[in-house]
This record gives sequence, C-alpha cells and structure tokens, in this order.
Amino acid sequence: MKQNNSFLTGCGFHLPEKVMTNHDFESLVDTSDEWITTRTGIKQRHISTGQACSDLGYQAAVQALHEAGLTPQQLTHVLMTTFTPDTHIPNAACVLLEKLGQRNIAAMDINTACTGFIYGLEVARGLCALSEDANVLVVASEVLTSRVNIKDRSTSVLFGDGAGAAVLSGSRPPGHELCGNLTDVCLKADGSLGELLTVKGGGSAYPLRLGQMVSENFFIQMEGREVFKHAVRSMFNVSMEILERNNLRPEDVNLVIPHQANIRIIDALAKKMNLDPDNLFVNVQKYGNTSAASVPIALGEAIQLKRIKAGDLVLMVAFGGGFTWGSALVQY
Ligand code: ACO
Repeated sequence: MKQNNSFLTGCGFHLPEKVMTNHDFESLVDTSDEWITTRTGIKQRHISTGQACSDLGYQAAVQALHEAGLTPQQLTHVLMTTFTPDTHIPNAACVLLEKLGQRNIAAMDINTACTGFIYGLEVARGLCALSEDANVLVVASEVLTSRVNIKDRSTSVLFGDGAGAAVLSGSRPPGHELCGNLTDVCLKADGSLGELLTVKGGGSAYPLRLGQMVSENFFIQMEGREVFKHAVRSMFNVSMEILERNNLRPEDVNLVIPHQANIRIIDALAKKMNLDPDNLFVNVQKYGNTSAASVPIALGEAIQLKRIKAGDLVLMVAFGGGFTWGSALVQY
C-alpha cells in the first residue's frame, strides 16, 4: 500500500419533493402523529413519486462532484450503496454511471443496508490507498417506499426516500476550503441476527414465479424492539472501538453523525457516550429513516449548515440489517 490518505472533497444530498407527514398516515393506518413522534421523533419523510434509486443518487452525485470541483470524466470508480437498486441487473452504479455520461471505469453496488455508506467509505479508502489519482464517487441512495408495506404501521411510518453522496480522492486537491481526511473506518457484521430485519421476497431463496403475487415477505419486516437494543449497543461499541484505537475520547469529537433511524436510539447512544447535544447531528424528524442514505444526507446537511469547519473531527456511525454496523472518523 502506497499511502493512507483519502480525502473527502465533496458531499451532496437530495430528497424527493413530495413530503408525507405523520398526519397523512392517520388516514391510511391506525396510527397518530403523537404515537409516531413520541416513539420515533419522526414528523415527516420525503417520498419518491416515480424516481428510482439512480435518479435520486444522480442529483446527490452532481452536487458532490460540484463541491469537489470534479467532472464525471475525472472519476475512476463509482460505488452505489443501496438495497433498493433500480434493477438487479444492471446494477444501480452502472445506471448512474450512464446518467453521469461516463464509461469505462469501475461501477459496483454494495448492499449492507443502513450501514452502506460507511462500508462504501472503507472500499473507497482502499481504492485511494492504491492510487493517489483515484477519484471515487460513493453514492448512498434508497427508495425504501418500494419495499415498505404501507399497511404495516409498525414499519411504514419509519422510513423515507433520499440519497447522499461523497467524493473521495487519493490526493488532497489544492486550495480546497473544506476537505476531510478519512483517517479510519471500523466495520462489523453478524449474520446470526439477520432474521430480526429482513427483505426476503424476490431473492433466490424466496423466488417469485411468473404471475405470482408478492406476499408480505417482499417488504421490510422487523422485530422493532430487538433491533432497537442491538442498534444502541452496536453503535456504542463500534464508536468507542474506533475512538480508543486512535487514542481519542468522545469529548475530542466535534460532531457525531449517527444513523438517523429513531430519536430514542440516537438519544440512548448520546447518553452512553456522554455526548454534548451540541456535538450531535439530528435530522430524523424531517426525513425519517433513509437507510444507507441517512448518514451522507446528515453529513451534507451538517456541512451546508456550517456545523463542520476546518480542524473539526467528525465521527459517523451506523447500524443496519444483516446485521451490519460501522464507524468512520474524518479529520477536517
Ligand atoms: N402507530 C400506533 N401504534 C403502533 C404503531 C404505529 N405506527 N406501530 C406499532 N404500534 C403498536 C404495536 O402494535 C404495539 O401494540 P400492542 O401493544 O397492542 O401490541 C405497540 O404499538 C407497541 O409496539 P412496539 O413495537 O413494542 O413499540 P416500540 O416502543 O418498540 O416502538 C419502534 C416501535 C418505533 C419500531 C421501535 O421498536 C424502534 O424504533 N425500533 C428500532 C427500529 C429501527 O429504528 N430500525 C432501524 C435500524 S436498522 C435500519 O435502519 C433498517
């Protein structure tokens, strides 16, 4: 390995225009704004009206490239992290590549559910370590509403659609105002817990035959309470592991960006880590859980709101189906 530098030079995010509030759900399922707000912190979410994964991802990618000062022709790799790709084949990264007007570079999908962006960052970091000429586009885009049963109130109120993107480069671009160095990533997985959060229907173990109707297993199914406990414990452990191996403490971090699934999960994590609320980024109330897209949307929004400045240390942490979980440290 030539070096250990991968520079985060641009971020972008995109939400579809249509907003669905908690009150909108009241006419669809037996729920209330009060129940959703107190149990999750979510007030509204954005919903795709026909846009596919690559469409949302494209908008986020264009912004990230603009911020990075790069054209699509300067990219060397495109990574798409999603479990709701446009199609199985071609993969969403290839569809996005075509929309960007670029050809003859590597393009692949990564599926680690809500931890997708953190996994994508680690793959990008490896590619940047191989070449200082690497410019890797990492896009996390989800159209979760394509895999949510609107009639299942225990899941449908939780999720939203959206995309986030980042550009990582093998060398620091000159004169860049806000450039982060992705200094470390810590990834974990445990397949024994997979049954607690699934989307099975249409997979090769649960094939759909011509003319067959989809059944409930086509949609997200989740043991909410169990997932909740594991999410808090795993995000805490992987946050502390990455900090400790870098000789850092939680109070050294200027901004923690956790996966935006549920305010109670975020609050429990913050309490365990003894975080100052000012050092915690939260936007779950506006977007709901956008799975892999949640961390890069939050990162992009934090930059837009000037919550991150040169010299800051940022910790990102996520947890998702599989189970998968991971953390990443960026030194701005
Ligand atoms: N409106 C009204 N009532 C509801 C709703 C709803 N939308 N959903 C469930 N209920 C009911 C249940 O039917 C149950 O009723 P019962 O007691 O009569 O059986 C009652 O509310 C309590 O249900 P619980 O599931 O025990 O409620 P809980 O307090 O655990 O909250 C929730 C549920 C919000 C799903 C919570 O468990 C949670 O957030 N879990 C984590 C899920 C998550 O964030 N996953 C994402 C991480 S991984 C990833 O991002 C893919």
